[in-house]
Amino acid sequence: MYPKPSLTEHPDRPFVFINSAMSADGKLSTIERKQVRISGTADFSRVDEMRSECDAVLVGIGTVFSDDPSLTVKSAERKAARKARGLSENPVRVVPASLAEIPPDADIFRKGEGKKIIVVSEAAPADRIDLLKGLPDTEVIVAGAEKVDFRLMARLLKEMGINSLMIEGGATVNFEAVRAGIVDEIFTFVGNIFIGGKTAPTFADGAGFRENECIRLELDSFSRIEDGILLKWRVRYDRERSEMRCHDLSGRKYLKKRWSRQPADSRRKDRRVPGLSRTGIIAGLESLRNRVSAEPGSLPVQGSVPLIFISS
Ligand SMILES: NC(=O)c1ccc[n+]([C@@H]2O[C@H](COP(=O)([O-])OP(=O)(O)OC[C@H]3O[C@@H](n4cnc5c(N)ncnc54)[C@H](OP(=O)(O)O)[C@@H]3O)[C@@H](O)[C@H]2O)c1
Repeated sequence: MYPKPSLTEHPDRPFVFINSAMSADGKLSTIERKQVRISGTADFSRVDEMRSECDAVLVGIGTVFSDDPSLTVKSAERKAARKARGLSENPVRVVPASLAEIPPDADIFRKGEGKKIIVVSEAAPADRIDLLKGLPDTEVIVAGAEKVDFRLMARLLKEMGINSLMIEGGATVNFEAVRAGIVDEIFTFVGNIFIGGKTAPTFADGAGFRENECIRLELDSFSRIEDGILLKWRVRYDRERSEMRCHDLSGRKYLKKRWSRQPADSRRKDRRVPGLSRTGIIAGLESLRNRVSAEPGSLPVQGSVPLIFISS
């Protein structure tokens, strides 16, 4: 009934989609960073269905600390349907935790059957890894040096047989996954609640992008669910990446591109330094050189920056 993930195949990573609920003002939760009810029962059921239909679900360790979700399938029928397909009741639960700091008594370890994969970096202490490996149905994989490398993680998950991965937040993980270039689709439920607050998590936090790095999305569909709206977006990496490559490999080329977007007048204006002409600069520099060679140390200095007064 509601839009679903396309679940197309990739050779080297799972099909990845993000599903998050945010307030009308773009927040994932409150300033206390605790779970808040943003959507209603119909959306809960939609999310439960999505969860039951994919191979793995992922949340960041920040979400484990703040909300302690079990990430299990809630509906008895959906669990039974998975069983009938020869699967575990729940999808594989994945948590990227660079230093393996996930508490062993977290609900994902205590509730519901099914495999858990904790993704750590090479910086994770061996004793914490051993502790996690000792938990039932739990596997620890290493991806990345200091922080979990999301691209490598996606490749390793694919090698482990995971073809579809649903990311359920939080704010940092949403950003990192998009930044890593592994997200195919984004589902955002926008609910009828206003939260506010500079420190309340938004849909995507992390470091953020500069203007030329932003990722374009394509609106696939929008549907009303109770008093909110579900938006389905497709992520358009290809076009954006080629723009970024253009910037990375040739700064001049990129500048030229931005330049050409400006009106001709402003282009000329930006290049001109007010009050200066080329002849004025040359004459000024000449007189400065003469002064410095006649009286070494006479250059007027403010802080460590020489002040040069030249008039046109
Ligand atoms: N409304 C919703 O749908 C929804 C869903 C989920 C969460 N939330 C809310 O979101 C908030 C939590 O978000 P959050 O941003 O604090 O935490 P988060 O995104 O769940 O997890 C962030 C953590 O992921 C780990 N991580 C692993 N690899 C990383 C990488 N390459 N780059 C960056 N981080 C990496 C980092 O810890 P390490 O350095 O230890 O690896 C980081 O602190 C909570 O308030 C929660 O209630 C809302």
